[in-house]
Amino acid sequence: MYRIGKEEIEEVAKVIESKNLFKINDALHETEICEEMMRKQFNVKRSLLVTSGFAALTSALVGMGIGPGDEVIVPAYTYIATAMAVVAAGAIPVIADIDETYTIDPCKIEEKITPRTKAVIPVHIQGFPCDLDAIGKLADKYGFQILEDACQADGGSFHGRRLGTIGAAGALSFNQFKIISAGEGGALLTDDDRIYERALIYHDASAIAFFGNQLDGISEPQFCGSEFRTNEIAAAVLHRQLEKLDGILADLRKNKAYLTGLLKKKYKIGASNDLEGDCGTTLPVVFENEAEARAFAAKVGTGNYLPIDTGKHIYTHWTAILEQRGALHPLLDPFKFPVNAPFVPDYKSQVFPVTLDLLARTDFLLVSPDWTEEQMQKIAYTVL
Ligand SMILES: Cc1ncc(COP(=O)(O)O)c(C=O)c1O
Repeated sequence: MYRIGKEEIEEVAKVIESKNLFKINDALHETEICEEMMRKQFNVKRSLLVTSGFAALTSALVGMGIGPGDEVIVPAYTYIATAMAVVAAGAIPVIADIDETYTIDPCKIEEKITPRTKAVIPVHIQGFPCDLDAIGKLADKYGFQILEDACQADGGSFHGRRLGTIGAAGALSFNQFKIISAGEGGALLTDDDRIYERALIYHDASAIAFFGNQLDGISEPQFCGSEFRTNEIAAAVLHRQLEKLDGILADLRKNKAYLTGLLKKKYKIGASNDLEGDCGTTLPVVFENEAEARAFAAKVGTGNYLPIDTGKHIYTHWTAILEQRGALHPLLDPFKFPVNAPFVPDYKSQVFPVTLDLLARTDFLLVSPDWTEEQMQKIAYTVL
């Protein structure tokens, strides 16, 4: 989260004064306002505000009809929540390596496709857009669905279209560490009515038929699901954050371009599938080896890190997945379902060399939208 202040405080105060904190109400309708804003801002038919990015991913997979017997391909470099969402839907995550853009390698996706591959989750990690053209071609060829994990890329785009709206569905996150935040929160975006309807039912399975007229116009039958319902306080914060989103992105991109200009004469900058759509949060500087990357990081001091040090963002740290504990009880564990068990990968023996190599010899400089040119010159001065 980059910018928060009196606008959010005033909006939250209005909600509290209204004494209507539940998402269905006759007062401020903050949840509905956010969903409407997202539909317009992202140019998408359906949007659903939920409690987290994980909730958005899981609801999307359920909406897409993914479940036991299915494989879903995920990148080796993503937060563990991406893979956990697949397991939460009852399916099996299949891991594929990344390429020099830090995002999933379309060639590696193709190597992993089997008759059971029902979906691929390209993750726009650090706001870096995946190559959705190449992945889209594979989807057409092999008949799988694309769920975009845009949890780290709120508002970014690929060739002019917002991330999260190009595949069958997309997921955003609004937790503390994202481009905009409501403390916690997430959103599902889709043009597909069936995905939306199933996700709507799944995300609020008990209250959906109880409060308001949420099931009006919904033709999908109700089924037992979860409780990922948002609330009006989170929505009030998000309302004001959504208004700030494009300004934040414009300033992030401007500053990333400026700092890149200063550094690129001496340093190699990481590759991108679409620099214009890139969110600008992160400037990757690539080195020949880890020692050089660490020496650079030490010189910069604060506001940077080597991605290899980011724990559960790297498949080697996905303990619950690697050790195949997919649920609270063995009988509920998708890794042990007879329909899944014969093809569960031996995760522990798998090695994804590009992920391990590239992340260890890259330094990520975290860009601020509020830097002045003088501040960026100072940062550059420490390493030039
Ligand atoms: C790539 C990615 N996917 C999914 C998530 C899950 O989002 P949340 O924490 O809102 O559940 C995160 C959160 O950090 C993430 O970085």
